[in-house]
Amino acid sequence: MDQAHSLREFMNQHNTQQQKNHWARIVTITSGKGGVGKSNFTVNFALALQEAGKKVIILDLDLSTANINILMGTTPKYSLVDVLYQQKSIWEVMEKGTQGIEYISSGFQLQHLMTLDEATLATFWGQIEVLQTHADFILLDTGAGISKELVDFILASDETIIVSTPEPTSIADSYSVLKNVVRYSNKVTKFHLVVNRAQTYSEAVETSRALKKACKNFLHIDLPTLGFLMEDVQVREAVKSQIPFYVSYPNCSASKNIKEIVHSYLPDYHQNSTVQTTGLRGFFEKILFFNKSR
Ligand SMILES: Nc1ncnc2c1ncn2[C@@H]1O[C@H](COP(=O)(O)OP(=O)(O)OP(=O)(O)O)[C@@H](O)[C@H]1O
Ligand SMILES: [Mg+2]
Repeated sequence: MDQAHSLREFMNQHNTQQQKNHWARIVTITSGKGGVGKSNFTVNFALALQEAGKKVIILDLDLSTANINILMGTTPKYSLVDVLYQQKSIWEVMEKGTQGIEYISSGFQLQHLMTLDEATLATFWGQIEVLQTHADFILLDTGAGISKELVDFILASDETIIVSTPEPTSIADSYSVLKNVVRYSNKVTKFHLVVNRAQTYSEAVETSRALKKACKNFLHIDLPTLGFLMEDVQVREAVKSQIPFYVSYPNCSASKNIKEIVHSYLPDYHQNSTVQTTGLRGFFEKILFFNKSR
């Protein structure tokens, strides 16, 4: 049995055992190239989802440049590591950012789950399980670069939002990420594309067309476009002031773009409410499975 096959078997088993409609949907936000706007998108998308009545938690999985907190002008006291080794509860390590958005810093390589003894792992499962019914969405902000770890995150998520700019290097890196994921499986996660930092609407359309076409022709996957975010000087201003643009500049073009993205995303989310999630515990269990089966 090849790895892709055993992965699918595992997913199927997992999905029938644990599927629950009201559990938080696990959405990975990623890109190939760094610095394309993932973290800004994550925070502002979370704020717009919250405004639309959804409960959102951000999990910062970027270990090298974890900066979700910086974008919101806060400093986390704890991270998931403290759940593992300091007997903190999940509520203690969950911080509140702008407008009460809850976020958690991960603080450890997920491969480290492999080294945990049964008792620590059981405590960890118990703690993260409570998040499954606490939120509608858990957004996972990831770091830059195309790594095996990133592929694992994507394979273990319910949905993946790829953020790409119109630069050829960003387009090429987005394609590489998808290619790496599809090598393992093209069925386990649903992809969406967000084009960020486009100078014009036609540049954004052209970028999404190019990526969609490459994905269809060479990877045989659909890459629907979730939306566009224009280049907007207020984004940088908001980063400097450490208040997300959706709050500090609610009428700027980037904020309007985010609102449009949420307006097109939520009907699709409600329509596909039968899409089953295995929750955050399921996400971590899949990561563990991938590492064990390697
Ligand atoms: N739509 C935009 N308009 C103008 N500037 C933007 C836009 N989106 C992002 N930026 C700029 O790009 C910078 C990097 O954004 P961000 O930190 O969100 O990227 P990232 O993909 O998370 O980076 P990393 O890969 O390092 O985690 C921002 O600080 C901001 O200056
Ligand atoms: Mg980032």
